[in-house]
Amino acid sequence: MKKLKRSNDFEINLVLKNEGFIAPPREAQRNAVVNRALKEFVADLNALHEQTKRFVPGKTPDYISDDREQKVLDDNEIMEDWLIPVMQVMANVICDKGGDILEIGFGRGISADMIQQHAIQSHTIIECNDAVVAKYHKWTDKYPGRDIRLVHGLWQDTIQNLDLFDGIFFHTYPLNEDEYMRYVNASITFAEHFFSHAAQHLKPGGAFTYFSNEIHSLSREHQRLLLNHFSSFSVQIVPLVMPEDVIDTWWADSIAVVKAIK
Ligand SMILES: C[S@@+](CC[C@H](N)C(=O)[O-])C[C@H]1O[C@@H](n2cnc3c(N)ncnc32)[C@H](O)[C@@H]1O
Repeated sequence: MKKLKRSNDFEINLVLKNEGFIAPPREAQRNAVVNRALKEFVADLNALHEQTKRFVPGKTPDYISDDREQKVLDDNEIMEDWLIPVMQVMANVICDKGGDILEIGFGRGISADMIQQHAIQSHTIIECNDAVVAKYHKWTDKYPGRDIRLVHGLWQDTIQNLDLFDGIFFHTYPLNEDEYMRYVNASITFAEHFFSHAAQHLKPGGAFTYFSNEIHSLSREHQRLLLNHFSSFSVQIVPLVMPEDVIDTWWADSIAVVKAIK
């Protein structure tokens, strides 16, 4: 089967080489599903054309090959301020029913403060970095009498000892080149490597939140992965004010926040 899509801006040539590839009972069905996939690809290209007009130039980060598990980082290296509105949306999304909340990655404690503004029962934080943990201990002075618990270590080594939660807030980053290749390069969304763990540690009806490096919607591939682990999900697009010289792998003026329900 051969398909050609042409516009003034691009040309797509698709050749299905194997007759057994996408082989429903009737040829008309094959034609219909392949046409639909192509139509979607054309729509994606046109959407990207519009979105990339608003990209900031930014700079490529050089931290990808560093080992960041115990590295002492300044606030901006942990999380830049442009992400703060995203933290607020994620905190609101995950705390709207109160209960027991698990946060993975304390960082600057900004989202932890936002979570503490909600009427929750308990707040468990997993954090691996010793310098960040030292800051966590000072941070708790602000919240005497609250049920706040720290789990010091990698979530990969500790989460199996924890109970079930009503909400899980996930915000880490790749700690080394190996994690970068496995979690960022090889997946449609960084949080994918945590999906099965989130699903295992949520009470029925509990919610899991994270942000995905997607601009205005979730890709089909991403949606399929979510539905392997969760019963439903919703997406909120958060507008961003991006610095022209941002040192990150994100350059767009919005980002997708996901709430997935067990
Ligand atoms: C981007 S920061 C979190 C920022 C935080 N949401 C805030 O508002 O300040 C990510 C944090 O996750 C921690 N982290 C990264 N990978 C981790 C892992 N596998 N287990 C536990 N903590 C991790 C890092 O040490 C860092 O403190």
